[in-house]
Parts: sequence; C-alpha cells; structure tokens
Amino acid sequence: MVRLIQVGMGGMGNAWLRAVGGSDEAEYAGLVEIDEAIARKQCDAYDLNPGTVYATLSEALGRLEADGVLVITPPQFHREQSVEALRAGVPVLSEKPLADTMEAAAEIVTAADETGVLHMVAQNYRYSVPVQTLKSVLDSGAVGQVGAATVRFFRGPHFGGFRESMAHPLIVDMSIHHFDMMRYLLGREVVQVRGFAFNPAWSWFDGDASAHLSLSCEGQVQVGYHASWCSQGAETPWNGEWRFECEGGVVTLEGDRVLVYRPGAEPEPVPEVALPRTGQSYLLHEFVEALRGGPRPATTCQDNIRSLEIVFRALSAVGSGD
Ligand SMILES: NC(=O)c1ccc[n+]([C@@H]2O[C@H](COP(=O)([O-])OP(=O)(O)OC[C@H]3O[C@@H](n4cnc5c(N)ncnc54)[C@H](O)[C@@H]3O)[C@@H](O)[C@H]2O)c1
Repeated sequence: MVRLIQVGMGGMGNAWLRAVGGSDEAEYAGLVEIDEAIARKQCDAYDLNPGTVYATLSEALGRLEADGVLVITPPQFHREQSVEALRAGVPVLSEKPLADTMEAAAEIVTAADETGVLHMVAQNYRYSVPVQTLKSVLDSGAVGQVGAATVRFFRGPHFGGFRESMAHPLIVDMSIHHFDMMRYLLGREVVQVRGFAFNPAWSWFDGDASAHLSLSCEGQVQVGYHASWCSQGAETPWNGEWRFECEGGVVTLEGDRVLVYRPGAEPEPVPEVALPRTGQSYLLHEFVEALRGGPRPATTCQDNIRSLEIVFRALSAVGSGD
C-alpha cells in the first residue's frame, strides 16, 4: 500500500477522504489540519484515529514515513506545502489551482525540477465520462479538424467561505477547470486572452463573478467563453456546455451528453465511454502508478503551469493582472 499524508480535511478534503478510504492501493500514514474542530469532526465521520492528525506538515513529515502528500488546502498555502514536501523528497498530488500566483507556481515547478520529485495537480474535470467521451470523438478525427469553440457556464452556488471575498472567484477558482479542459480537448495552447469580467448588481460575491472572454489558441483556433457564478436560473452542468465548430460538422456537450451534428442530418448521440475510475479515484490511481514507476501523469506541475497561465492572462485581459 502507498502511504499518504493529506493536508487539509475541509470541504474538498471529503472527496479525498472518500477516494483514499475506498482505495485498495493507498492508505493514510497521517493527516494535517490546523482547525481542531474540523479534524475532530472528520475523524468521527471517516472513522480515523485522531492520534494520526498533526497541526503542521513539518511535524507530520518529521514523524511519519510517507510515500506521498495530498495538498487539499486553500490556494494560498499550496506553494509552502508543495515545496516543503518536494524538498523533503516526497511526491505531491495537489488540488487545483497549482498556486495562487504565477510566482508561487514557478517556485513549485523549480522545486520539482531541481529535486526530480513528482508534483501533479488534480484536474478532475478531465476524468469524467462526458469529457472523456467528448475527447474520444474530437481525437478520432471523425468530424475533422476543430476551427473554433464556444463554452457557456452558468451557475449560482452559495459557497460561503474564501470564494465570496476573492477578487476574481470565477476566473481563479472555477474557470481554471474549463481552461485546463480547453487545452486538453483542443490539444493546443492558449496564446492570447481578451475580455471583460464583471459583477452583476445582485451578486453575493465581493469580486467579479462573471466573465466574457475570447481566447486565441495555437493554429488560429478561437474560443468564446461566457460564464457566471451568480446566475439565477437555467444552470448548466459544472462542465459547462461546449460547442466545437469542425470541418465536417459540429460536436457539442449539452447537458453532459455528447452529440455530433452533420450537415443535413439528425443529431447523432455519441455512446458514453466506459471508465473504470473517474475524478479523484482516477487521479489517485494515476499518482500511485507513477510512484510505482509507471507512466508520468498528464497533469504534472510542469504541464499544469500552462493552464494556470491562462488564468493570469485572463486577469491581465480584464484589467486585474497585477
Ligand atoms: N477539484 C475540484 O473540483 C475542487 C472543488 C472544490 C475545491 N477545490 C480546491 O481544493 C482546495 C481546498 O478547498 P476547500 O473547498 O476544501 O477549502 P476549505 O476551506 O473547505 O478546506 C480547506 C481545509 O484546509 C485547512 N487548512 C488551511 N490551512 C491549513 C494549513 N496551513 N495546514 C493544514 N490545514 C490547513 C482548513 O482548516 C480547512 O479545513 C482549494 O485549492 C480549492 O480550489 C477543488
């Protein structure tokens, strides 16, 4: 069994507590949580030994033998915790975003490069049935090359917590998933971002919860991105609704279903791909396989910094890149 230390047992901590709890190839060496009440509550809920929970990662690394560290804390702590684990020679699987600034992200990449220790980022949106089905159609070449894409994302979540006081909650905390999906689905890097971010009068977020962006990718492929986190109805799925203008037709992801439209023909639903693992379970398995000498994960920090770069290009485009 691969032995892990999980740092952060809060909201998203639940998804990882379930993934590790349900895994037959990984287990906890220990956990780290600064909030004692959260630690107690989660130990009760997941039947964990409170004696294995530490207040700091340094303490846990000093006392435990671990094969990997899961970083599941808010973004501003990712640099410190990722770099500490990497410099101690322990591989990291970190929640997105890689870091809260490009400078912090670059420091993590430098630590991973200098130590040769694996650091990967959890881009779970890539590993769902709808997104893998979409990817398989686009990659098959059946509808020809992609010339342009449109993404629509509209939801109205009331999270409370750190997101409601961020300057750009949508672009920094949510759109990173869609930007990473864009790179993955198109197989192209984003080279320019233009657009606007704004906060409708009724928004319950302090920062801009809506954005209209225009992203130019390599090979002149253009993407329109319209999104809001303070929408009051007609919500899209978390993946968003996607439309790809292709040489031989249009491929869409609508209501998490993939359809192919060809000129003059009825829309063709695409059968879903079968996946043995999705989301966090997929990522955990990919991490464990890499620790055992298997293939290098797709979303290493060296790759993922390019997804994060789109976030900062977008912030700069909307006039908040400082
Ligand atoms: N992949 C996804 O779909 C997805 C969804 C939600 C959140 N996330 C990401 O997960 C990360 C955590 O978000 P969350 O919603 O769980 O936040 P949260 O605030 O609910 O939980 C974070 C936990 O970390 C703890 N913590 C904070 N600083 C710590 C420290 N220095 N040492 C130890 N513990 C510390 C907090 O006490 C809290 O329990 C963020 O990066 C967020 O963007 C990803």
